[in-house]
Amino acid sequence: MSSSVSGRTSSLKMVSAASARLRLLLLLLICVNLTPTASTERQLDVQEGAELAKSRKRVFPETHPPGPNSARDPYSYCNTPNGSEQAWEGHSPADYRLLSVQVMIRHGDRYPLYTIPKTKRPAIDCTLSASRSPSHPLLTSYISHMGLGGRAKWEAPLNSVPRIPNHSSCEVGELTQTGVVQHLHNGQLLRQAYRHHSVLPSDWSPHQLGVETTSRSRTVQSGLAFLYGFLPDFDWGRVSVRHQWSTLFCGAACDCPARNRYLEEEQRRQYRLRVADRELEKTYADMARTVGVLTRHLRAANPIDSLLCHLCHGLPFPCASAGGGNAGKCLTMEQFAVIRRQQRDDDLDRSRVGLYRKYATLAMHPYLNQTATKMERASREGARREEVFSLASGHDITISPLLSALGLTEASFPRFAARVVFELWRSPKQTKKSSSTGERSKGKGGGLFIRILYNGEDVTFHTAFCRSHDRHAGQPLCPLENFLSFVRRDMFGIVNATSYREACYGR
Ligand SMILES: *[C@@H]1O[C@H](CO)[C@@H](O)[C@H](O)[C@H]1NC(C)=O
Ligand SMILES: *[C@@H]1O[C@H](CO)[C@@H](O)[C@H](O)[C@H]1NC(C)=O
Ligand SMILES: *[C@@H]1O[C@H](CO)[C@@H](O)[C@H](O)[C@H]1NC(C)=O
Ligand SMILES: *[C@@H]1O[C@H](CO)[C@@H](O)[C@H](O)[C@H]1NC(C)=O
Repeated sequence: MSSSVSGRTSSLKMVSAASARLRLLLLLLICVNLTPTASTERQLDVQEGAELAKSRKRVFPETHPPGPNSARDPYSYCNTPNGSEQAWEGHSPADYRLLSVQVMIRHGDRYPLYTIPKTKRPAIDCTLSASRSPSHPLLTSYISHMGLGGRAKWEAPLNSVPRIPNHSSCEVGELTQTGVVQHLHNGQLLRQAYRHHSVLPSDWSPHQLGVETTSRSRTVQSGLAFLYGFLPDFDWGRVSVRHQWSTLFCGAACDCPARNRYLEEEQRRQYRLRVADRELEKTYADMARTVGVLTRHLRAANPIDSLLCHLCHGLPFPCASAGGGNAGKCLTMEQFAVIRRQQRDDDLDRSRVGLYRKYATLAMHPYLNQTATKMERASREGARREEVFSLASGHDITISPLLSALGLTEASFPRFAARVVFELWRSPKQTKKSSSTGERSKGKGGGLFIRILYNGEDVTFHTAFCRSHDRHAGQPLCPLENFLSFVRRDMFGIVNATSYREACYGR
């Protein structure tokens, strides 16, 4: 394998100086053998969905995505930049040519969507300052470059969204400086990874770059930070940003009654499991008593969202406000651990029952179908005007079903600034006689191949369509053909159908 990328810039100044408080929390976590991984945020996703639904009528309610299991420490979820991230993007056998790259990201670190009643909001500054940690060498130039955003083409309603976070006291759901730095870093990692492949030529034309995002400020701003890390000082005049009203990025193919039915069944399953959990109910009651609110109000305030924010920012957990009978009492790591434990139980139950995977298959087909179409276009000879680099900026409720639909059931819950990357490669022309076993793509060039990466890790051979590929027998990469037949037909096998239409509407 030619290792064209050693692209792990550690130019990043980071937060490794996490506050003493966070260290203490980490220690505590280790002591109680607790791994506050991403799954702890699952309950939020309903709210990310609900929040979007409020703003856009046609957005569907969302279910909790599958949980995590690989994440082993809070850094994995918080994704606090620490300069040691892996980036296997851009790796291929020698002489393979990179034809296109499509990236789906989750927004970076954000302020909670909900506050726990009768407690102080976490004090976090959402203005950007290169002198505050975590910072990034590109931060200052990025801030001034974002001021030129008026020159790009924005699909409504994106033109009214601020291009950088800028509130000294963060607003609900606002991207933080950590979130900006995470995506400057992601963009820069990919820039390094692809620097020898010139997937986007230096004189790229507007057709070759596709950017789409939901209308939340955190996704718009995350996408821009990523783009700036990838193409510093890019020419705004050549950028147009498309709007996706659905968190599923399903474009014009969102109608699918069966998907909604799977979703509802999945939500009922999840609800039943939760209310049957005595320890969880008792914990919510304890927490409610501590802060002095009704249990149902506490539950509705989705405390895990807020607690994770405290954890990621090295802040102590919230306490009862002064003056009340409980002054000085605080929410505890043990309570957090119970919610987390229930979520692990939920993960197991979810994959045992399988409804989520069916939902995810129907939810993500349109996006995957579009991905496949773009790949075919980019593979045509002389495809100079085709989109060769695509960026989609979404949510955990976008990435989770995407991973599940690909059959990546072991993948960890999408942390802040998670990324999924689809690469299309062409092998060199076969000159000597080869065994030609498995050589499916004829055409003028060599064969076409796909790689899929999640947070920098090559997961191609864990996907449903390439799990059984024998990469040692002649073909070190996964043939594009496998992906195409998966997307166009095979993926529907799980719902006993052979097409999206049939799966959505029945026979
Ligand atoms: C950096 O973060 C990753 C998880 O994102 C973690 O696995 C790794 O141990 C961290 N490295 C350091 C030096 O803290
Ligand atoms: C951020 O907000 C402050 C105060 O409202 C304003 O003076 C400043 O120009 C803003 N910065 C940017 C980069 O928009
Ligand atoms: C899939 O993509 C093809 C174009 O390649 C398009 O004709 C078809 O309508 C798409 N199907 C769905 C369900 O999005
Ligand atoms: C799957 O579809 C076939 C018809 O195509 C039908 O005979 C069979 O009963 C279906 N199986 C399930 C489990 O729905």
